[in-house]
Amino acid sequence: MKEQLESIRLATLEQIENAKTPAEIDEIRVKVLGKKGEITAILKQMGKLSAEERPVMGALANEIREVVEKAIEEKVKKINAELLEKQLIEEKLDITLPGEEFAMGKRHPIQLVLDELKEIFLGMGFSVAAGPEVELDKYNFEMLNMPKSHPSRDTQDTFYITENIVLRTQTSPVQVRTMLDKKPPIRIIAPGRVYRADEVDATHSPLFHQIEGLVIDENITMADLKGTLEAFIKNLFGEQTQVRFRPHHFAYTEPSAEMDMTCFKCGGKGCRLCKGEGWIEILGAGIVNPVVLEACGIDSTKYSGFAFGMGLERLTMMRYDIDDMRLMYENDMRFLSQF
Ligand code: DAH
Repeated sequence: MKEQLESIRLATLEQIENAKTPAEIDEIRVKVLGKKGEITAILKQMGKLSAEERPVMGALANEIREVVEKAIEEKVKKINAELLEKQLIEEKLDITLPGEEFAMGKRHPIQLVLDELKEIFLGMGFSVAAGPEVELDKYNFEMLNMPKSHPSRDTQDTFYITENIVLRTQTSPVQVRTMLDKKPPIRIIAPGRVYRADEVDATHSPLFHQIEGLVIDENITMADLKGTLEAFIKNLFGEQTQVRFRPHHFAYTEPSAEMDMTCFKCGGKGCRLCKGEGWIEILGAGIVNPVVLEACGIDSTKYSGFAFGMGLERLTMMRYDIDDMRLMYENDMRFLSQF
């Protein structure tokens, strides 16, 4: 029995040594150490041995078992290491190959100016409000003191969806929505898309962007309006910029004004851009008409406010010296990559 065990030891260690794959090793393990394996088969014959021989053979069998297990363990480690080595050599990466270049996206000039503008107004304590582009006639016109027959509706070529629903022609309905929704003090800007049935040319588009502003509190006067808008323009176009206000008419403000700024190109001397005027019209504004406040449920004897609205395309064209509005909608990469 001892010889049998020793010969199993020798043969098995040799087989392990020669094995090449984990599968082969596994086969050897089962053949020698398994429940129906060679060592188990020999131990089954222990009954034939004398009482003195039995523990000696038992110890030898256990020793061989341990030796074989250890040899298997080491061989498996070796095979795996070899496999890994082989894999690393075969899958070598050539890190000297030049990388692929990705075209980085850029922000649209309109978005750049809007971001700048938001930053300025947020800094003055405003927050940002929004409203739907498909709007009730009631909010776009009626509650802004422009009833169905009002002549000033003519100047805004409206896309009607039904008799009472329009594509908003201005961001001013966000004023109404804000006042219906919130109690004063109110300080918001509302940027967004607006629509008018205009022919496309260098300064017109049926879709463009406006920014609305609204401030409602006690004791708000024309001085607040002028101070706020002047600070805004100087922030955006530089301290040297001058502003002036001209009387105007909007149904929802009283009094109303338009604000001009000195031409950013010639500084006010007069050039082609400002058509020799030295001034460029920049926005409409005014003191919120008490009729509008009352329609929105705000006590006009206690509160007053100012509002303003401006075209974002116009501001962007001036900020970046763009002479044709169409450039901003055509997605020409040669244009867009300049910002
Ligand atoms: N809604 C006007 C327009 O589309 C701009 C405007 C003027 C907005 C005066 C105002 C305002 O809030 O007070 O031309």
